[in-house]
Amino acid sequence: MKTPDEFLEDNGFVAAADIDRPTLISAFISEMERGLEGSESSLMMVPTHVGVGGRIPSGATVAVLDAGGTNFRGGVVSFPPAVSERRNQPMPGTRGEVDSEAFYGAFAEEARRILPLASSKRLGWCFSYPAEATPSLDARLVRWTKNIQAPSIVGDYVGRELLVRLGANGAGGVAVVNDTVATLLAAKATEGSRAYSSYVGFILGTGTNSAYVERTANIKKLPCADPDGRMIVNAESGGFDKIATSAFDAAADAKTADPGRNRFEKLISGAYLGGIGLEIYKGAAKAGLLPKEILSRIVGLGSLSTADFSGFCAMDGDSDGSNPLFSIFSDPVNARMARRLGLPVFERAAVLSAVHLAAFAIKTGEGNDPSAPVAISIDGSTYYKTKAISFAEIVSAELDDLLVRRRNINYEIVPPVDDAPMVGAAVAALTAGSR
Ligand code: BGC
Repeated sequence: MKTPDEFLEDNGFVAAADIDRPTLISAFISEMERGLEGSESSLMMVPTHVGVGGRIPSGATVAVLDAGGTNFRGGVVSFPPAVSERRNQPMPGTRGEVDSEAFYGAFAEEARRILPLASSKRLGWCFSYPAEATPSLDARLVRWTKNIQAPSIVGDYVGRELLVRLGANGAGGVAVVNDTVATLLAAKATEGSRAYSSYVGFILGTGTNSAYVERTANIKKLPCADPDGRMIVNAESGGFDKIATSAFDAAADAKTADPGRNRFEKLISGAYLGGIGLEIYKGAAKAGLLPKEILSRIVGLGSLSTADFSGFCAMDGDSDGSNPLFSIFSDPVNARMARRLGLPVFERAAVLSAVHLAAFAIKTGEGNDPSAPVAISIDGSTYYKTKAISFAEIVSAELDDLLVRRRNINYEIVPPVDDAPMVGAAVAALTAGSR
């Protein structure tokens, strides 16, 4: 009988140890360059018109909306960063399709609640989906990710639509930024006396993506930009597609709302890892690595959350009995096999995260001086809360090798900022216009 590793490999699964790191870094960088010059690329490379030079006026408070993957939050941000008056609701479009009125209505209602509680008239809106950015910091939604069902919003300038619904007495403007941009800005706003030569913002949660600081001279598709300036670019790196995928990845992808899209995101982020695990378990039962009798129970699950998959692989006891994998694999021999089949999914995700971060740090062109490393600011539940493995440990070990040892590029994963997406959206609302 095949070993779990052989079975995975036979189905096209490239294990963490076998990932060709230098080739993948080159592929990322060449897709970034193509995206920056406006050639066809799987990376959108959105110029955000936001720089990192802004100053936060002392004492300012900002009303902020945060449209993430699963949740929609509202609150008031003050500095040093703290969020008050917070409210958490399901993201519109995650529980069945919503139309424009229901979608914007939910955000407008929350904005009306928090705007009077803030000193800034300008609202911050962290909007974590692929969108083009305008110089006035509005965002035009290009398509949904993370299985959101609100088709009528695609193509909208979401900030403008929200302001229309808020009416004449509403906000004095809105700054819409991606969560990666916000996470980068949150690091900048909390760096104190630390000196960094550049910045990368990385999200690994329900979805994934990175933003980084680029010389405007390199953003060839933006010909009028200040040639000596710098601007944050939102890469939409979840779209990267120059990467091999396994039969299990393909089967899981076929069940998503956008098959064939966001291939990189579907290999590493929280909305998808459980789905890959489910396909591996089905395949393994069919191939005889797991008893055929449990195939119908695996198929009967229909879906598998990343939290259950991760908790099971971590052998993190099933305290409330809600994790179905503990009963399906109650036999210790099956449990051991199921863990050996599952852990590689998380290990691969961690190494791919690191390789992708290395490409962004390299692309900043900075970090050669050890006293001014490239700051990497990270947010997201998958990165910080996955139980099966430690993303933080694997990513640091890989970056030490890929950046410091092989290229003499100094980096620092900066201390996480609580509620970084909300804090960064507030920074954008206060500093927009300054580079
Ligand atoms: C979206 C990005 C976002 C990322 C992390 C992706 O699905 O396309 O805009 O930054 O998720 O939330």
